[in-house]
Amino acid sequence: MKVLVVGGAGYIGSHTVRQLLAAGYEVAVLDNLSSGHAAALPNGVRLFQSDLLQPEQLTQALAEIQADAVIHFAARIEVGESMCEPLAYYRNNVVGSLNLLQAIQETGRRIPLVFSSTAAVYGTTDAVPIPEDAPLRPESVYGQTKRMTEDMIHAAHAAYGQPYTVLRYFNVCGASPEGDIGEAHSSQTHLIELACLTALGKRPKMMVFGTDYPTPDGTCIRDYVHVQDLADAHVLAVGALLDGRHDAATYNVGLGHGFSVREVLDMVDEVVGVRLLREEAERRPGDPPQLVADASRIRAELGFEPQFPELRQMVGMAWMWHRTHPNGFEF
Ligand code: UFG
Repeated sequence: MKVLVVGGAGYIGSHTVRQLLAAGYEVAVLDNLSSGHAAALPNGVRLFQSDLLQPEQLTQALAEIQADAVIHFAARIEVGESMCEPLAYYRNNVVGSLNLLQAIQETGRRIPLVFSSTAAVYGTTDAVPIPEDAPLRPESVYGQTKRMTEDMIHAAHAAYGQPYTVLRYFNVCGASPEGDIGEAHSSQTHLIELACLTALGKRPKMMVFGTDYPTPDGTCIRDYVHVQDLADAHVLAVGALLDGRHDAATYNVGLGHGFSVREVLDMVDEVVGVRLLREEAERRPGDPPQLVADASRIRAELGFEPQFPELRQMVGMAWMWHRTHPNGFEF
């Protein structure tokens, strides 16, 4: 079975490519390399260096490899940036996804699609943990683009029978157990990645955004999921679609419990063996106090069983990647 992984050279995409190959799939990648890295791909994986805003090349790639399934990761992903450059986000994430759905429809085949969505579609919610049927009230343009794409996928399912699985990720972290691929964005905002860069001396200190939240230690709680476990969730989702076990499903991907910012930073200190300088700062706009997945559906229906559920494993692998690749993929 052949899978086209759109955005497969990025952080989550490259881990998924590896897990798909390990599960016996043939894989090709379409990526514009705007934030992905060809070096993150295993040897022999075909790369179409192209973009969802160039639909002719997408159509060509789908036809050339005769894809049996598509996984769609290609998106701009920064919440803050999406508020400053909203049109770029709507164009890239919504128009790009529209082009992908159109190209799949034009093949005349019902090619299943697995789509990367996000917990940001829920917005601020009092639900702890958050079930998939919680109301969707995204607060950022980024979250809106993901919600709009989910809506387009539902409409394509209703009208043309487009088979799909939407995966709503919580806080993705960690790196490959081998330590050779990991998170390497041009502008970093994620807590564990920033803490590793601080430990490497690339940043002076860690800011703790908000210490007066209604949580046990006053800092925000997030549901962290290891990137390789998330990659495995994609492999399970593709398998269920190809086996015909379902043709329309939406799953949260998290562990169902969270860690506070202080707990994460304490673990980083322990793993790197240094107490990082911390500064308490104002709340970061738009941060809900607590985002924890109700992850029971994906466990029950897809048999999702995380291999790396411990915070120590997530931080340890992230640290191994950053320590050995202080400049990411640029050696
Ligand atoms: N934080 C700090 N200091 C930092 C960076 C982050 O205190 O230097 C805090 C944040 O304020 C937040 C927590 O650490 O409370 C986690 O922040 P991240 O930026 O690592 O992640 P977010 O929870 O903001 O967002 C991530 C993804 C979103 C996704 C969300 C789902 O970036 O796309 O997880 O839970 F929607």
